[in-house]
Amino acid sequence: MIRDFLVWMATEVGKGPGEYDPSWTDLLASSLNFWGLLEATHVLSLMLFAGTIFIVDLRLLGVSFKRTSVSVISDRILPLTIFGLVLMIATGVALFYAKPLLYYHNIWFRLKLVFLVVAAINILIFHFRVQRNITEWDTLERPPAKARLSAMISILSWILIITFGRFIAYDWYNCGKALPDWANAVQECQSSETGAVNLKGVAL
Ligand code: HEM
Repeated sequence: MIRDFLVWMATEVGKGPGEYDPSWTDLLASSLNFWGLLEATHVLSLMLFAGTIFIVDLRLLGVSFKRTSVSVISDRILPLTIFGLVLMIATGVALFYAKPLLYYHNIWFRLKLVFLVVAAINILIFHFRVQRNITEWDTLERPPAKARLSAMISILSWILIITFGRFIAYDWYNCGKALPDWANAVQECQSSETGAVNLKGVAL
């Protein structure tokens, strides 16, 4: 169902009446510089986002800025983090829009989305549970275990998201190549345009 939606989005949305008129996905994917500008903005906003969120996480772990309260650090830095996050999500969605089916069948893109969900759940738990009694530990050099755990999950999931994002560009596991069965299954290669081929070179 998701794939059908993506096929419709890539081929029909924005398409003119003529048989050879391009869709918006075609226009974006074939643009000379726009896609590159989007990716550059994605990476620059990622630097702003990751750089600032790690400062807050390291304070929560009791590693840096120990003599400044957690709330002072996060109140100053979080607006920048949120700005970076919004820009990163907007440019990420636009990059995806250019080649939706390629990314849909890409294992690194799938893993990246899984860890984006993990990171989002972690943010919600931190916001609604861990931070509820922040006044009790705001000035402690070493915040309580639940805050440190949350910071650790945040650092690990963002590192994984960035790594998987970088891996998307490589074709190691692209559908249509001879792949182990698990890779064909995880990426749903059989329904991809290039199909699924096993390690013996047999098309499935
Ligand atoms: C919010 C946190 C995100 C982080 C930390 C992140 C990180 C990254 C990184 C490191 C790259 C590789 C850039 C390079 O080529 O060097 C990348 C590329 C990309 N990201 Fe994201 N991203 C995020 C969100 C998203 C979202 C929400 C989407 C789409 C739904 C997305 C879609 C993409 C796409 C399509 C690429 C291009 C892959 C390629 O063809 O090279 N990203 N991202």
